[in-house]
Amino acid sequence: MASSLSTRSLLSASRSRAAWGRASRFSTSAPVNSALKERLAQLIPQETEKVKAVRAEHGKKSFGPVLVDQLYGGMRGLPALIWDGSVLDAEEGIRFRGKSIPECQAELPKAPGGSEPLPEALFWLLVTGEVPTQAQVAELSKEWAARAAIPKFVEEIIDRCPPTLHPMSQFSMAVTALNHDSAFAKAYQDGVSKKEYWGPTFEDCMDLIAKLPNIAGRIYRNVFGKGKLPAIDPSKDYSHNLAALLGFGDNEAFVELMRLYITIHSDHEGGNVSAHTGKLVGSALSDPFLSFAASLNGLAGPLHGLANQEVLIWLRRMQSKIGENASDEAVKEYVWSTLKGGQVVPGYGHAVLRKTDPRYTAQREFALKHLPDDPMFKLVGQIYNIVPNILLEAGKAKNPWPNVDAHSGVLLTYYGLDQMQFYTVLFGVSRAFGVAAQLIWDRALGAPLERPKSYSTEAIAKMFANKQ
Ligand SMILES: CC(C)(COP(=O)(O)OP(=O)(O)OC[C@H]1O[C@@H](n2cnc3c(N)ncnc32)[C@H](O)[C@@H]1OP(=O)(O)O)[C@@H](O)C(=O)NCCC(=O)NCCS
Repeated sequence: MASSLSTRSLLSASRSRAAWGRASRFSTSAPVNSALKERLAQLIPQETEKVKAVRAEHGKKSFGPVLVDQLYGGMRGLPALIWDGSVLDAEEGIRFRGKSIPECQAELPKAPGGSEPLPEALFWLLVTGEVPTQAQVAELSKEWAARAAIPKFVEEIIDRCPPTLHPMSQFSMAVTALNHDSAFAKAYQDGVSKKEYWGPTFEDCMDLIAKLPNIAGRIYRNVFGKGKLPAIDPSKDYSHNLAALLGFGDNEAFVELMRLYITIHSDHEGGNVSAHTGKLVGSALSDPFLSFAASLNGLAGPLHGLANQEVLIWLRRMQSKIGENASDEAVKEYVWSTLKGGQVVPGYGHAVLRKTDPRYTAQREFALKHLPDDPMFKLVGQIYNIVPNILLEAGKAKNPWPNVDAHSGVLLTYYGLDQMQFYTVLFGVSRAFGVAAQLIWDRALGAPLERPKSYSTEAIAKMFANKQ
């Protein structure tokens, strides 16, 4: 009797949860017919077969030994994940679906009169592996503009944050709250079949990307007192709208910078902290908003995305200490003082790369074209000639070369976006493209719950006690 009562109460609790879900979720998205979704639906069966064939043929083959050092050493180099969207080569840098950054710049559709790739095109490439047409990209811009509005209560959450709360914390909070309207969470409650997971995941991912400019713009204007947010212009591309929401829509060079910025920061294979966190949390079938909010919390760490803020703070401190137009000797001394103080040189080093990051090079080329005489750009160039030798001499860092974060803040500062606490938010807007593409494919291919094995030090000691 007791057990049937508790079963009944459990059932009614779950029914009322489902009813709550239906009553409280409302769609803020305009209904849209996505060509990207149609193309994805065509690709899923063949990709599923490809994975099946690879697993059938190679599933029991080994990558080689796992070293105990890898367990203690942050899993560096441990083969553990699959992601087709982008692959990182230690020497050459990132390729998005096989295309290097210069190839993306050459081949992906651009805005009329522009020379940088449109992030809409990069997203299409990440999701399908194909270069879209100009018309497909234009449709994506329109679709994201149609989905861009954020619920009133999310606006209120952002507005209630004290300006002293870091923009990344506000960003993560607002993205978490978008889960209120998750199509995936609702479909799951309604009993969607596993085969259909990818559909509502795709809808959520499109909503997520579309809504980020409104969230980022609102945080920027609130924290830095920049007045009221303008409306999204449905005739403009994503980067133009993002720039306009930040107050830089009239500056075509800044808009071009946003197109380049979002493209190159979008994805960096599957193992980096933000990409992997999104995948890990998504593997529990947490919806894309919850999964990406977790990514953002990882991106907010100073060894990952927050490094772009740290670089600017470090450069400013350097300038205040040794002055502008400082000699190489003075810069060297400052770099050494950073290392001797037990700190890292932000913007230098990488867990995988062993050469200058091509994302750094792409930004340097942008600077050479648009701001060749800027003093901060010159300082970044001067540091490039100094830091690698010092890191080599110090002898610890495996990669003495600059990464993406060594350059991005200087470009933003040049155009007047000099509030460095905001820089990682822009990185976050961009990283959503890669995390979203990965979440869609993980649901389409039925990726399982992630659950690696952990060991105690005692177990390791015993395991190898009498072995060479
Ligand atoms: C990116 C980063 C976290 C990679 O870490 P990693 O894979 O552990 O790097 P390494 O294997 O080269 O680290 C070996 C040692 O060199 C040090 N090192 C690496 N990069 C360094 C740097 N830029 N400045 C000073 N020391 C550095 C590490 O802190 C580590 O020291 P430890 O042995 O005392 O712990 C690291 O290079 C770093 O902290 N860079 C600065 C922050 C940054 O720019 N982050 C953005 C990355 S895209």
